[in-house]
Amino acid sequence: MTVIAPSILAANFARMGEEVAAISAAGADWIHLDVMDGHFVEQITFGPAMVAALRPNSSLPFDAHLMISPTDRYLAAFAEAGADTITVHVEAGPHLHRSLQRIRELGVKVGVAINPGTAVETVVPVLDDVDLVLVMSVNPGFGGQSFIPGTLDKLRSLRELIGSRPITVEVDGGVSASNAAAIVAAGADVLVVGSAAFKGGGQAYAANLAAIREATGVAG
Ligand code: DX5
Ligand code: ZN
Repeated sequence: MTVIAPSILAANFARMGEEVAAISAAGADWIHLDVMDGHFVEQITFGPAMVAALRPNSSLPFDAHLMISPTDRYLAAFAEAGADTITVHVEAGPHLHRSLQRIRELGVKVGVAINPGTAVETVVPVLDDVDLVLVMSVNPGFGGQSFIPGTLDKLRSLRELIGSRPITVEVDGGVSASNAAAIVAAGADVLVVGSAAFKGGGQAYAANLAAIREATGVAG
């Protein structure tokens, strides 16, 4: 079954706790937490304190996408705050393997992310160390951008490289009901959805998520 992971970057920041509860009740499978530091990416969003504050508002897996650099000094805080998966970027620093080892030692799922301009082959040295590969389909830092079409070939290449390993493939950025089927067909297991999940306000969340799930051809 395709996992739908709404990104709270697109939620109402003034009511984030209620938003996480509402999108969870509306049919989300995971909650995608876009952590941005204003250094690795232009925008600043939130840190471990926000994740800890949100934790009681949903029993769904918290999928922390760290668009930060450096990463290592913050990993334990995100794990303690309640993140179930911690994903760091290949591009975030020179010691990716050590960062992934540290996440593993924290007892949470290990994810690695690649930007649109980064070759999929860069994750080959760590494929035996991760549970998830996050393929960015927009340049990170902002929601509401358009899906980069070349991502589909990248997904197919990634699937070849992964082979039979039990690795989850996640796609993040510009995902909607109109491209969800093609993204899943190219090899994605998890769809991160920001604008398309939260558009129209709380009353629309269930219908938004149902439309995306239906578009993937998988019953809710
Ligand atoms: C961008 C974030 C994405 C983004 C997705 O840096 O990593 O998760 O919020 O939002 P949409 O679905 O609106 O592109
Ligand atoms: Zn993200």
